[in-house]
Amino acid sequence: MFLNRLAQSWKQASKPFTREGSTMETNLIKKKYEEFFLKPVMDEITIREGKGIKLIDASGKEYMDFTSGFGVSLLGYNNEYTEYVHEAIQRQIRRIVHIPHYLYYSEPAIALAEKLAEISPGALKKTFLCNSGSEAIEGAIRTVRKYKNRFELLGLQQGFMGHSMGAVSLTGRSKDKRKIGPLLPGVYHIPAPYCFRCSLRQTYPGCNLACADYVEDFLEFGTSGNVAGLVIEPIMGHAGVVVPPDGYFSRIGEICRRHGIAVVADETLTGFGKTGKMFAVKHWEIEPEIMTLGKALGGGFPLGAFIVTDNVASVFEFEDASSALGGNPVSCAASLATIDSLKKKPCARKRQDLAIT
Ligand SMILES: Cc1ncc(COP(=O)(O)O)c(C=O)c1O
Repeated sequence: MFLNRLAQSWKQASKPFTREGSTMETNLIKKKYEEFFLKPVMDEITIREGKGIKLIDASGKEYMDFTSGFGVSLLGYNNEYTEYVHEAIQRQIRRIVHIPHYLYYSEPAIALAEKLAEISPGALKKTFLCNSGSEAIEGAIRTVRKYKNRFELLGLQQGFMGHSMGAVSLTGRSKDKRKIGPLLPGVYHIPAPYCFRCSLRQTYPGCNLACADYVEDFLEFGTSGNVAGLVIEPIMGHAGVVVPPDGYFSRIGEICRRHGIAVVADETLTGFGKTGKMFAVKHWEIEPEIMTLGKALGGGFPLGAFIVTDNVASVFEFEDASSALGGNPVSCAASLATIDSLKKKPCARKRQDLAIT
């Protein structure tokens, strides 16, 4: 009975759509969304296919995809680059779809961790694989606290790190946190390097990077002196794609070094060539001790990761993180093929500095 219904609805779903047909269909879909989903859609269109840089709705109408699926669909859709990824996914599916990567050795996970060590900035080397950007942030929070044996954390005003409890605590926007507190204790938000909407009402360069210097005073007067890490998006995405002014990262990095604070770079949104370099932090003089990844990492499959230096790794114990689905071999295969494809894309080839180093 159920299989019949499924076959029926699949047949219907694969029927070519007329415009009239699609309107009826869209109304039905809208109704079902309202009935069965917690969160409404932002754009009321039903995407059925992707082709290159375009999304195609149920009526065949084409849209330029400026969102790239919240920054996930790095290579576009159904083109020569994604074809390579799809083949890798199919090969892996035929072998095995799930191995917990810390229960048994998993070859796709090993290959990905090695690749991440190769392309990550500075001394970042050891990876823990999970499923999402938020999960990576949670792991980074626990790890940096243990590494420094301190509990306080700094985030940026207007920053966004996700909706799990630690991630939302680090998020610097009150609208994400209404009525769900208390949040993680010891998390503070410092002024963002956001010149257009400077919360210190200053103007760059006359400000002389007052937002970075503010941290000195804040550490002295606003914390208990137990700050483990500064968790920062190198380019704030949700805040409006905010590129920090020149000099910010070297100043904030120097302050962190002097106070024994680890820099945690959240490259969930900015990673994998989107800024013209493999990771956004590579544009500046700053060496994070932990980096978190998600979104494009999985080539469209769920995958997150946090990567740490050998020093940070030395405090990590087996029970410090777990993720049953994390590092799924199909996601890892998709990830590896995506990273490979990146190098082949014409835009990447044109940019010398995107070359993986
Ligand atoms: C910078 C940043 N960090 C973390 C996250 C959370 O990632 P996820 O939605 O995969 O949990 C996001 C999501 O938008 C993000 O932009």
